Amino acid sequence: ELARRIDRPVVLVGMMGVGKSSVGRRVAGLLGWPFVDADDEIERSARMTIPEIFAAYGEDYFRDGERRVITRLLTEGAKHTVIATGGGAFCNAATRDLILSRAITVWLDSDVDTLVERTARTDKRPLLRDGNPREILHRLREDRRPHYSLAPIHVISASGPHTQTVHRVLEGIA
Ligand code: S3P
Repeated sequence: ELARRIDRPVVLVGMMGVGKSSVGRRVAGLLGWPFVDADDEIERSARMTIPEIFAAYGEDYFRDGERRVITRLLTEGAKHTVIATGGGAFCNAATRDLILSRAITVWLDSDVDTLVERTARTDKRPLLRDGNPREILHRLREDRRPHYSLAPIHVISASGPHTQTVHRVLEGIA
């Protein structure tokens, strides 16, 4: 069956708020695999929250730590894992090349309204703090699309429950 046939981690990429963590956790549950959230791993290794890392050291420093954490997950971690990455991870060339060479990569995408709605629930995203979140999300989504589209599997995440998205991811990796 599917979970045994796949021999690489499944990595979810895409914009903040698209549902990478919620969908990833459920895909992992259905495959019977562990789920890892790369942002949580970064916070654990740094012993700081992501807003704290951005505030103290800036985005470049964060990207470097993000690349190191994802490298560790993909080179030392179990091959049967579902990994959700932060929205900017796949836009860093080194991180992206590593993900593409080691994992099955799924791009989750949704429209800006859905991203606005889902990111408005928490205040944990430093990139949305200095400006209008809708404008920032729109611009980031446009800027990042060329990178995300390098992922071999593309799944649309509609607003509302994640059930259908979870099944589309499973179909995509099958
Ligand atoms: C970021 C997305 C966040 C987190 C950081 C930067 C981005 O992860 O890594 O705030 O650049 O899009 P989520 O995609 O899980 O929100």
